[in-house]
Amino acid sequence: MADLAVRVGSLAFRNPFLLASGVWGESGDSLVGAWAAGAGGVITKSIGSLPRAGYPNPTVEQYSTWGLLNAMGLPNPGIDEYPREIAAAREHGATVIGSVFAGDAEEFARLAHRIAETGVVAVELNLSCPHAEGYGTEVGSDPKDVEEIVRAVVQAVRVPVIAKVTPNTSDAAALAVAAENGGAAAVSAINTVRGLAIDTTLHRPVLAHGLGGLSGPAIKPVGLACVWQIYERVRIPVIGVGGISTAEDALEYLMAGARAVEVGTVVTTQGIGVFSRLVEGLNRRLDELGYASASAAVGVAHGAST
Ligand SMILES: Cc1cc2nc3c(=O)[nH]c(=O)nc-3n(C[C@H](O)[C@H](O)[C@H](O)COP(=O)(O)O)c2cc1C
Repeated sequence: MADLAVRVGSLAFRNPFLLASGVWGESGDSLVGAWAAGAGGVITKSIGSLPRAGYPNPTVEQYSTWGLLNAMGLPNPGIDEYPREIAAAREHGATVIGSVFAGDAEEFARLAHRIAETGVVAVELNLSCPHAEGYGTEVGSDPKDVEEIVRAVVQAVRVPVIAKVTPNTSDAAALAVAAENGGAAAVSAINTVRGLAIDTTLHRPVLAHGLGGLSGPAIKPVGLACVWQIYERVRIPVIGVGGISTAEDALEYLMAGARAVEVGTVVTTQGIGVFSRLVEGLNRRLDELGYASASAAVGVAHGAST
């Protein structure tokens, strides 16, 4: 049996499969459900300063098996309410990472400080949601802004800070470098890829918000390319996310340089039981290939690429 426990900087996870932010409900119960199903760690929905209803329906469009287009609009209960959900998840022993979104460095620092007080092991900064006015990509596309935000948060919290960067840019690695310069402990890549679907009968976009973010199998090559490029430019660990639905997908991410991975859309299509299948599958595949641990496979594809 290969050793699946991984370290991401000072963070330790029992296996590399983390529940990605926002995809499997917001409640403490859904975090507990993912943990009980075998996730190596769970990341909360991105939480903001105030409760937010999100966009009107429809907010999600399923593209057969290859993807999901969503524009939820970051619905969340706000930082005053949310700590009780994290407490519920922690009571069950879950390793919880708190995700936050904000409009500027000062708001990020304040929110990160609040969420860090709940006992999360790390804070992930949503610098990358592609469809929320004033947030996400709008504050996370310029390396200068990313560095300033990360630095402010690092000064405000004691736990490791993970910067989640966008693929909707010509140089995602430059954003990762900026995060590293700001003091981030790790970088996660990617959030959803900006997309659009049109309802030709109604002559209008399918989603009420118009533009949305694409996730699921369709974006795996985009995520892999970002992780690959980031791994070559930073020294901090990289967490891969985007389109993982099988153990083989996850192993591709590890070989491209990810120390851990986040899984999202597959949980909505295959159910929470997917975590145990991913764990089993990765174990089997690492054994077949002769790797004693998941960590031993990290980045191995780079040496072979020239
Ligand atoms: C319905 C939905 C809601 C999401 N909400 C968030 C969020 O609140 N914060 C965040 O950082 N990412 C959010 N994401 C992005 C995911 O965490 C992940 O980065 C993305 O979906 C790619 O991974 P996947 O292909 O495994 O789903 C959301 C994605 C979906 C589909």
